[in-house]
Amino acid sequence: DSNTEKTWSGIPLVELPAAPPLSLHAPALIPSRNHTIHFQVPWKTGEGIPLPHPKKYEDLWDAVHVRLPCSPKNLYPVQKSGGEREVVGRWELIRRALKPSGREIQDSHDLETAIMEYNSIYANKWDFSTLHHFFNDILEEDESLAFFKEILPKLIDLALDLENIVTRAPLLLKQGENHALSLSQVQVACLLANAFLCTYPRRNALRRDSEYSSYPDINFNRYVSKQLGNASSCSLYVLDTMVLDLFGGRGSERQRKVEKLKCIMSYFQRVTSSSGVISLMFTLVPEGVVTYMRRRVPSKCFPIWLESKTYLRSRIHIDSEGLIEVQGHGLIQIDFANKYGLTIIIQGVLYVGGGVLGGGLVQEEIRFLLSPELILSRLFTEQLDDNEVLVCTGVEQWNYASGYASEFQWVGRCLDETQHDDCGRRMTQVIAMDALHFTHLHTQFKPSLICRELNKAYAGFFNGNHKKEAVAVATGNWGCGAFGGDPKLKFLIQLMAATEASRDLAYFTFHDSQLRDDLFLMHSFLVKHDVTVGDLCRELFEFYKQDLPPDQLYPSLYSHQWHRCHEVEGGMEENQS
Ligand code: AR6
Repeated sequence: DSNTEKTWSGIPLVELPAAPPLSLHAPALIPSRNHTIHFQVPWKTGEGIPLPHPKKYEDLWDAVHVRLPCSPKNLYPVQKSGGEREVVGRWELIRRALKPSGREIQDSHDLETAIMEYNSIYANKWDFSTLHHFFNDILEEDESLAFFKEILPKLIDLALDLENIVTRAPLLLKQGENHALSLSQVQVACLLANAFLCTYPRRNALRRDSEYSSYPDINFNRYVSKQLGNASSCSLYVLDTMVLDLFGGRGSERQRKVEKLKCIMSYFQRVTSSSGVISLMFTLVPEGVVTYMRRRVPSKCFPIWLESKTYLRSRIHIDSEGLIEVQGHGLIQIDFANKYGLTIIIQGVLYVGGGVLGGGLVQEEIRFLLSPELILSRLFTEQLDDNEVLVCTGVEQWNYASGYASEFQWVGRCLDETQHDDCGRRMTQVIAMDALHFTHLHTQFKPSLICRELNKAYAGFFNGNHKKEAVAVATGNWGCGAFGGDPKLKFLIQLMAATEASRDLAYFTFHDSQLRDDLFLMHSFLVKHDVTVGDLCRELFEFYKQDLPPDQLYPSLYSHQWHRCHEVEGGMEENQS
């Protein structure tokens, strides 16, 4: 439409290198020391749902694997009628609670009762009021009935079939490790069904010294509980931060959770509906594969930023409209992640209440809700270190949504038509990359922190040894919302990292056309003046020394005499012509 205002500058989006035809370079389906595959290979798209590997359940109950609820070693104390306590197999307890003989789980109150049977030590501590509100007040009566009659029984069957679907506990992706896990989408659904039903052992403790204190929450209990609103009751968060707005009152907080529940329910409705519950198009059990890879870039692989002689040549497409997850189709999509926990210490500052840092339903949470398979990363991904990111390849988009933060709304189900790669993964790659959280604008100009962010972004954009044309990065104001970063600085950091990783950038300024123009102008300026990554790095460090206000960054870069010789030569040429 010629009347539509052009919202972007730089090169057209379609000219950026994308997958397909390029590859996202996720690991091939070959089991190795660094890659655990939970289904039988070789397997190809079109061969039906991948069969689990190993063929029969092999029990693992140790500190390096997820403690699966179906392990015979999973024990739980129960109170006998006489008052004394006894320790019983928790899986049996779970089975009995979720499949009570002679009666059915008919409403959310029955569901609460069932869940609390195997989480009895939290009796009267968990609150399910939003869940009740969701089923009683939000859904139409027949929708609610259909959930308890049709969807929940299948969801329970899926969860309880765990030992036949996931026959080996997934390895924990611990700090310092480079490891990938490949799971079929059905395995992901089964593990997520368990999360919804809050069956994972040892994942509810709120103490900082508990076994999983450096892992995110995975049981959804806090998801549906009003406890979520209380920072001091939340355990450590890694990838996906607090799922609600700590600042909002109960009403708005609840409203957000309702929209989230719609996303989750829509996902479960589809993964459990193999018998024509909805329309034919939506009844297919997903046959694909998802690979979750913790990527740790060894220190020797990071550029020496100050000395780099690489010219800032990454091409950019910069748009004030558009979203990473929409326009970034076929590009690597950055998830503005969170590594902080309940209490963290950076630069001597003590942050209390990790959720306060996140503050709710923003970029990361929304990305996870559109593709709930991302939520599973919380089961096994330990807190990210400075040289680490999490790369999720193959996640499907199950939901459409609109709005942001308190305006967020589930719009409907999405039928993802993204092509699969040779390994049965959707050609979608989401990279969880956490920025630092800043409370003072000036701090982020500190050279050591700039280097931290450069290395983190480089780890996110890392292109391994694939020196050929790489898929471009879809990103934006990384670290500049909840985390208080300066978008003009973060843009330069991401540009430097993209340059070193030989990637182009699609950058979305999130409705800020002034920012778009400022960044574009700066990019053109740096390219025109043959500025190298090292030059820019030196100038950034210099800027910190000068102790100027942050908004003087670009003026100071413009007034700097970059490569005087080039300029003089260029000037002469111009004069001659
Ligand atoms: N596409 C492009 N840009 C976006 C999008 C999008 N879909 N969504 C937001 N933006 P924020 P952070 C822009 O605050 O500062 C989460 O809770 C928009 O300008 O999500 O890195 C995490 O779990 C927005 O202000 O990222 C962490 O705890 C800016 O990107 C924490 O927030 C930053 O989005 C991370 O905070």
